[in-house]
Formats: sequence, structure tokens, C-alpha cells
Amino acid sequence: MHVLSVTPEIFPLIKTGGLADVAGALPIALAGRGVTIRSLIPAYPQIREIFRRKKAVLQYGRLFGGKASVHAVEANGLDLLALDAPHLFDRPGGPYGDATGADWPDNWRRFAALSQVGADIAGGAIAGYMPELVHAHDWQTAMAPAYMRYGKAFATPSVMTVHNLAFQGRFGAGIFGELGLPAEAMSLDGVEYYGGVGFLKAGLQAASAITTVSPTYAQEIRTPTYGMGLDGLIDLRADDLHGIVNGIDVDTWNPATDNNLAATYDARSLKKRRVNRLAVEKHFGLDHDNSPLVCVVSRLTWQKGVDILVAAADGVIASGVRLAFLGAGDTALEGAVLALAARHRGRIGAVIGYDEGLSHLMQGGCDAIVIPSRFEPCGLTQLYGLRYGCVPVVARTGGLADTVIDANEAALSAGVATGFLFAPDSGDALLHAMRRVATVHGNPAQWASMQRQGMKADLSWDRSAERYVELYRSLIARRPSDK
Ligand code: ADP
Ligand code: GLC
Repeated sequence: MHVLSVTPEIFPLIKTGGLADVAGALPIALAGRGVTIRSLIPAYPQIREIFRRKKAVLQYGRLFGGKASVHAVEANGLDLLALDAPHLFDRPGGPYGDATGADWPDNWRRFAALSQVGADIAGGAIAGYMPELVHAHDWQTAMAPAYMRYGKAFATPSVMTVHNLAFQGRFGAGIFGELGLPAEAMSLDGVEYYGGVGFLKAGLQAASAITTVSPTYAQEIRTPTYGMGLDGLIDLRADDLHGIVNGIDVDTWNPATDNNLAATYDARSLKKRRVNRLAVEKHFGLDHDNSPLVCVVSRLTWQKGVDILVAAADGVIASGVRLAFLGAGDTALEGAVLALAARHRGRIGAVIGYDEGLSHLMQGGCDAIVIPSRFEPCGLTQLYGLRYGCVPVVARTGGLADTVIDANEAALSAGVATGFLFAPDSGDALLHAMRRVATVHGNPAQWASMQRQGMKADLSWDRSAERYVELYRSLIARRPSDK
């Protein structure tokens, strides 16, 4: 089975969040299951580096205002098709904005181009390569199913995965003329969205199937509370909607072999985590004592609810917990976290920035990781926490609710608890959860048994990979007229 994945990020080459981890892990997870995935990705500067002398497999005299070409290259076990369009992608800064974090004003053009090329490839533009299905990730590639529908590849099935409904790619109606779509596409069942153009909306409408990254989030986004204006459309497509929980790359995230750790360990040698804990304490300038050390590894945005933790922090510290923050994002939130660390020297430490290696060390050395998200499609850091014996303390929403078993009395005595759940969007509930953390942590045998229970959980891609294969297979088997 040949699948073209169209993605704006792919680990380890370019990553701003979990989407990259998933787009990078799926091709590897599916390779052993008879599915060959090629990933179409923009040639950002760091990707241009790797295909310098490769011949183009596809060329455009003009693609949204400039010359472009597609280059086939293998890197890190991934089969990539890199879209080289220097006028769109060869820029310093991040994949979506400049170094100050401001979005590129032509993002609509950049990602319409990526999507258009995906649809062209689905239509047979690369000699000798004909994908049987296209898998698009988030708004940045959501126009691929739309371009397919109005172009040559109208009969090729497509899957639209929603990693995050908060980012929808909404633009003014003025761009429509430049998208190269037929006039009929500017309609309610096409790309039109509240009078403008909605990329994600277009993808949700045009794709053969919609997936999101956990069963609970799949239910939540059918409701006004979580649907962010798209709940009506998603609910109408409920029969084609699937919630498939993310797995993790259990080789990159393996405490027994992880080079980022000061000491590697497994479930039988949890005591060695102390060495990592000491390294975290040093790195964050924290006191050295036996109180629970709880970390945050997160984008600092409204979604992640870090502001709720900041507001409750005085109480959290009073309950005897120490905090270590690693994160970057909203400037105001970055400032608030730094101010908190300055106010609680030795009890709260903060590093503002993105540091993959440090994030591993924190999972390997902290006692718990707190994730107070207001909504969370899946969440990966709680899964890394489970794998590393860093007990997750999470808001009961989306994928967090699906992957952590709360340490209530029954679960604790049955020995099945893996973490702590609390009501989302509530500082009081968060504080109460932290107090429970402090209590259970005070019972080392019980704490260790929770850690081991989490470490036993199957977090690999095995089960979910199988679900993607089944979905791909069923869509390919459908007759074109059923699409
Ligand atoms: P999201 O994709 O919404 O940000 P996920 O939990 O799915 O949330 O994935 C976040 C990914 O980014 C994880 O791999 C996490 O470890 C990583 N991450 C987030 N912030 C940082 C940071 N400041 N430094 C290092 N890694 C980070
Ligand atoms: C998004 C979501 C996160 C999910 C990730 C990968 O960024 O916010 O919950 O884990 O995508 O699917």
C-alpha cells in the first residue's frame, strides 16, 4: 500500500510540537505492516541542507509566484519528498513565522502550495509513483484533499488528521482567486468558511475520512465547547470520524538507553533516577531535598493551561512540591513563569526556551509532570512521563483522560493507577491534585508501584498503527463513487 503523507513538520528534521513526532513515527510504525509512506514536506533551510545534489523528481516553472521543485531523499529512515520553493520556504526563523514568532503574512500561499503539490503528486505528477491514498495533517496541509477533489486525483481517498482544532488556517475571501480552484469551490461545501476561506474546514469537508489523535477528543470536537466553530461540520461527518490515540517512539524515548540522561535505568532500577533528579535540581537551581519535584515541559500557550498553574503556584509550593518549568511561547506567560521562579528561589526553577535534551532529562529525573491543559487532542508528554516513571498529573480532557489512570483509592489498592487526573480549567482542582501527589509521594512503596505500572503500559505504535492500516485499507477498497 502506497501512502503519501503531506506534513508541515517531521521529527527529527523540523519540529514545533507533537505533530512532528507523529508524522515522523507513523511511517516507521507502518513500514512493517505493508504500508510504504512517503512524506511531502517543505524544504525549510534545515531540509534544503540534506538534498543539495539530488535531482528533482518534479519541477514547476511557477508555483504560487516562483520556481519550485520536488526532491526525493532518504533521511533518518524516512522517505522524503522535499518541496523546494525558495520564495516560500527558504527563510530563517521557524516553519510558520520569523525569529520573533510573528506569523509569515503569506502562510496561506506557502501551505496552499504544499497542499497543491500533494494533490498533483496524488494525480500522478511524479513518473513511476502513484500513491493510493493521501494523509494530510492539520490546517497547513488540509487544502490537499480540497485540491484533490477539484483536480485529477478526485478518486484517490484521503485522510485528514486533526492534531489541533485551534489552528484552522482562516483567511480573507480575497485569497480565493489565487488558489487556482474552480469558482464552485467557494461554497459552503467547498472552502468557504464564514465568508472567507478556511483551510482546515476545506480539508474536513473534502477528505474521505477524518481522524483525530484520541477517542475522547474525537467525541469532544463534535460539541460546541471543544469544536471551535467546526463542531457542526464534524458532527455531520461523525460516521467518517475516528479517534486513534498516538503512540510514541519507544526507541527515542527509552530510559534504559537515553543519552540525554545522567543515569539510564529501567523499572527494576528506579533508584538510579536520583542521579537525574540531582542533575535537574542543579540545572534549575533548586534545593536538594526529598520533596516531590514536578516538571512542566510545554508550549506556553492558553491551550496548555500553564497560567492556571502559575496562578495556583503559591498554594502548590505551600503543599511541599517543587516545580521546574521548561517552555516557550507567549511572552507574557514566559515573563510570569520567570517572575514566579524569582519569587520562589530554590522551590521553582524555570528555563525559557526549547531544549529537546533537557526535556528528556526532566522526564528521567523529576517525580511527576503536570499538564493542566484546557483541551488536549492527545498529548505526548504524559506518555513520555509514563515511560520514564515521571508520574503524569493531568487535566481530565482529550487524550490525557484516555491515557492516564487516576490514583483514586480503588485504583491505588488494585495497583492499576498510573497518575493523577483533575477537572480542567480549575486552579482549585489542580491544587488538590498536587496535594494528592505530595501524599502519595510520601509513601515511597506506593509511589514506586505507580511508576512501575506506568512504565509497563503499552505506549508503542503497535495498536494504533494497526488502526491506521485498517482505515487506509477500507478507504482504498471503497469504490470511487462511494468516496
Ligand atoms: P503539542 O503538540 O500540543 O505541543 P504534545 O504533548 O503532543 O503537545 O507534544 C509536545 C512535544 O514537544 C513533546 O515532544 C514535548 O516534549 C515537546 N516540547 C514542548 N515544549 C518543549 C520545550 N520547551 N523543550 C523541549 N521539548 C518541548
Ligand atoms: C497537537 C496537540 C497534541 C497532540 C499532537 C500530536 O499539537 O496539541 O495534543 O499530541 O498534536 O498529535
